[in-house]
Amino acid sequence: MTERVVLAYSGGLDTSVGIGWLHDATGKDVVALAVDVGQGGEDMEDIRQRALDCGAVDAVVVDAKNEFASDYLMPALKANALYQKRYPLVSALSRPVIARHLARVAKELGADSVAHGCTGKGNDQVRFEAAVAALAPELTSIAPVRDLALTRDKAIVYAEEHNLPIRQSAKNPYSIDKNVWGRAVETGFLEDPWNAPIEDLYEYTMDPSVAKPADEVVITFTAGIPTAIDGKPVTPLEAVEQLNILAGKHGVGRIDVVEDRLVGIKSREVYEAPAAMALIAAHEALESLTLERDVNRYKRGVESEWSNLVYDGLWFSGLKRSLDVFIDDTQKHVSGDIRLKLEGGRATVTGQKSNESLYDFSLATYDTGDTFDQSLSKGFIEIWSLPSKISARRDLGGR
Ligand code: ARG
Repeated sequence: MTERVVLAYSGGLDTSVGIGWLHDATGKDVVALAVDVGQGGEDMEDIRQRALDCGAVDAVVVDAKNEFASDYLMPALKANALYQKRYPLVSALSRPVIARHLARVAKELGADSVAHGCTGKGNDQVRFEAAVAALAPELTSIAPVRDLALTRDKAIVYAEEHNLPIRQSAKNPYSIDKNVWGRAVETGFLEDPWNAPIEDLYEYTMDPSVAKPADEVVITFTAGIPTAIDGKPVTPLEAVEQLNILAGKHGVGRIDVVEDRLVGIKSREVYEAPAAMALIAAHEALESLTLERDVNRYKRGVESEWSNLVYDGLWFSGLKRSLDVFIDDTQKHVSGDIRLKLEGGRATVTGQKSNESLYDFSLATYDTGDTFDQSLSKGFIEIWSLPSKISARRDLGGR
């Protein structure tokens, strides 16, 4: 039997040409796999048909939106995951779920390899291949653009020569990756970090400088994940979809950064992630209300480590799994309601309540009803500052 390769197929130029290109270069039969992670745009059935028209021996479509939201986005939310404090890991989170299906389909169909359309300069090649290596170490990975000299120019010529049914929405100068957690836009005039983003770049968010009345939304969390919006129960996917619209309307979650890729390159990236940024703001506030001080402080370090691992393609790694166990344990009391005000590009927390709250009015109040015994603080501070006092006597003299 001819060997098979399962290609992660987007329906775009590179992966469409990639089908024939892979076959010509390796002699393998190509199976196309299109995974729906909420990228929107085209109908998945059209994409499937295009793969067949481009020469795939089989084409599989997977609706992974609920799985993506529940098993990838919710762990990221529990981790308040932001790479380099800014980027909510939009693309980094979708690669492991796509890779999981690549490995699954490859095993089911007896393929010996998988393929993807990434270049050799980015993070996504690492994420696909590291995830596949962790899930199915017997598979090899092929990247036609990187390994088989499939350049843009050659792809255009190949598509014309072979009459491939590719909608050349030609003039888009940007490289865009999107899913339900957000959009990433790079290249084109953005490659000069001095060039400001233009309104045209955005799709999930409206211009925050165009004034409109503020909106309020109440998000109910149960053990760290959103379970209702304005009192109506939601699945994780629905929560993200609804908040993309609500927060997107106010331009929440626009991010413009120069980011450090794993491969050593700095790149200029423009993101929009309205639901992600609104949810993280709300979730962090609820943690402040419900977590013990030390847990909250320690968790901030774990979050940054978690985000680095996921950015670097190590979703299916031992350390990431162990950190997930820690993070999950911290979430058992993270339940309650957060009210957000959405206005002018910002999601601001304006109200917080929880049956699991550690906020104690009678300890916090400066009014009558205060139960905090201030006289205890005097002795506490004596002992707390004792090490400083002793070392100061040595260092400043006067011992
Ligand atoms: N820099 C981001 C990341 O590594 C986004 C990459 C998105 N890819 C794209 N073709 N725009 O996660």
